[in-house]
Amino acid sequence: MDCKRFIEEQAQELKKTVGTGLAINALSGGVDSAVCTVLGHRALGAQLKTVFVDNAIMREGEPQRVVKLFAKMGIPVELVDARADFLGALKGVTDPEAKRQAITSTFYKKVFGRLVRESGAKYLIHGTILTDIEETVAGIKRQHNILSQLGIDPRKEYGYEVLEPLKTLRKDGVRAVAKALGMPDELVHRIPFPGPALAARIVGEVTEERLATVRKATAIVEEELKDSGAFQYLAVLLNDYATGIRNNQREFGQIIVVRCIESVDARTATATELPWKKLNRICERIVEIPGVNRCLYDLTPKPPATVEYV
Ligand code: XMP
Repeated sequence: MDCKRFIEEQAQELKKTVGTGLAINALSGGVDSAVCTVLGHRALGAQLKTVFVDNAIMREGEPQRVVKLFAKMGIPVELVDARADFLGALKGVTDPEAKRQAITSTFYKKVFGRLVRESGAKYLIHGTILTDIEETVAGIKRQHNILSQLGIDPRKEYGYEVLEPLKTLRKDGVRAVAKALGMPDELVHRIPFPGPALAARIVGEVTEERLATVRKATAIVEEELKDSGAFQYLAVLLNDYATGIRNNQREFGQIIVVRCIESVDARTATATELPWKKLNRICERIVEIPGVNRCLYDLTPKPPATVEYV
């Protein structure tokens, strides 16, 4: 792919569509929305307002880290605190699709609806990639960012139009574009992170307490595996409990699954053959998290498993 040409074409297209209006976009933690932001600012400058929505389901320190990183690139990012909106919408929800649906509508309808109304933006730039579209259309999973492919008209439903400049690319293409845009390595090689964030890694109800547990596990896994060269690595909190023993006391504890995969574009994946010593080290640290007494390593390829658990 000719990245320079792709960037030029998409920037022209954004300029043409947005005209003299205002566009808005949201950064998550991932490379897709980061590329949209840099591409969008290159095309639209001050006509693009970028926000980071703190939805309560982010990784440790993520909102502040992302805002700082973009400030360094000269791109202002507004931090929006929507934690209560999301936690409220997720309360009592256990079904995976219902969970994704709750996040989608809270994000697009409630939080974004509000931001768009306040800013007067007519366009939302979104980092949907080809894999998201294919899997959603195939009915494998409802990616949180697909609307028109599902027959939802965002203009009618939410009052703005969605622009998806990356919709012809897969993850490897997005990374190539990120590099060509001169983005720092920290962003170009950032491991994929799903829109539904840590909620995709909690089986069962998403509560503040359970988020704190999976957040701690995620920090451990990311720190231990950052030099693994794997495509993606993550921690999942199961909805089961298992009997254990600690300080000679019987306890009924939570179970964390560690997933680390090799993949090119996340359509298929296999488990990474991690060294036994590394796995043991991760396990030791994970079971120090209060309330957790088991740590499992997931060997399942995709298919039949998906990467995330929800
Ligand atoms: P799955 O779990 O579907 O994940 O095998 C494939 C890749 O996509 C990421 N993923 C998402 N990315 N919105 C996103 O932007 C989503 O709703 C979403 N769900 C999964 C996942 O982390 C993996 O890299």
